[in-house]
Amino acid sequence: MLQCLLLGGTGQVGRALQACWRTTPGSWDVDAPPSAQLSLQDPEAVAAHVRRTRPALVVNGAAYTRVDDAESHPDVARVVNAEAPGMLARAAAAVGARLVHLSTDYVFDGRGGAPYRPDAPTTPQGVYARTKRDGERAVLEACPGALVVRTAWVHSATPPNFVATAVRVLMQGAVMRVVDDQVGTPTRAAQLAEVVDALLAAMEGDPTVAGIMHATDAGVASWYDVACAVLERLGELGLAPATAGVVPVTTAEFPRPAPRPAVAVLDCHATWARLGRTPPHWRVGVRATVDELVGEGAVKV
Ligand SMILES: NC(=O)c1ccc[n+]([C@@H]2O[C@H](COP(=O)([O-])OP(=O)(O)OC[C@H]3O[C@@H](n4cnc5c(N)ncnc54)[C@H](OP(=O)(O)O)[C@@H]3O)[C@@H](O)[C@H]2O)c1
Repeated sequence: MLQCLLLGGTGQVGRALQACWRTTPGSWDVDAPPSAQLSLQDPEAVAAHVRRTRPALVVNGAAYTRVDDAESHPDVARVVNAEAPGMLARAAAAVGARLVHLSTDYVFDGRGGAPYRPDAPTTPQGVYARTKRDGERAVLEACPGALVVRTAWVHSATPPNFVATAVRVLMQGAVMRVVDDQVGTPTRAAQLAEVVDALLAAMEGDPTVAGIMHATDAGVASWYDVACAVLERLGELGLAPATAGVVPVTTAEFPRPAPRPAVAVLDCHATWARLGRTPPHWRVGVRATVDELVGEGAVKV
């Protein structure tokens, strides 16, 4: 079995990938060191680990993902999201490893007025967004055969994520005030993992599966739509107290330290055409995550 170095194995995408590979016979022998053991804050150590272990595949699902905290910790965010991925990519190229690097819809400002194609000019706002964009560039410069997969609004049964928060708050019978003027595509981590796995298989015999590809679930939603979908599912399951509700608010009414893209929908058609399939609609994914959260008792009310 070929060896895969997975960074971010404790995160939503990293967990989903490992779960996907557990059910796929003949997949990767995964080395997923925790950040306490191998940190992207020490890029040289990460590169040395790659040179020493010589994996056949490197997947970087690790990032400084706390978008608001990044505004007050720009140096750490830059090292983790941009400098370390660049060094990781250089090391992967040196040992001949395939590299998949995760990135984000935040590289766009959301004012483009149409779904963003992978080659659309990037317009990041805020520290997280800029460092992730710079990470993409560093990776592709150091390792042109690498695959950068941009995704968005990831949810899973591993909190923190918006769906998990909504389940917890709504099951307590609270009324959630949720922005309805930010639009994107909620993406279930398990679904994304299947797409990444399929892209990996496609990369094997086809060097054109490289560069930037977009991968989200299908459809578009506002955060308000997502909260309503969670409430609807909890209602069907008999788990929504009568007092629970969702109220739309504007971004201006809900200021946060980091700016968010307004309408950042990723155009995934090239990915879907390459794989010959479209993923489920986001509502299907949100329902699955709600069911998983309440079924596993992962949400403490
Ligand atoms: N979540 C979203 O909505 C979303 C949307 C678009 C794109 N993405 C991108 O998708 C990727 C995966 O996101 P996710 O939601 O799975 O992230 P997540 O659940 O927030 O997990 C982040 C992962 O990064 C690891 N990490 C953080 N700092 C690290 C460091 N210094 N060294 C090594 N590992 C470190 C964490 O390890 P510890 O547990 O040890 O801290 C954790 O495994 C990221 O590239 C992110 O930018 C996410």
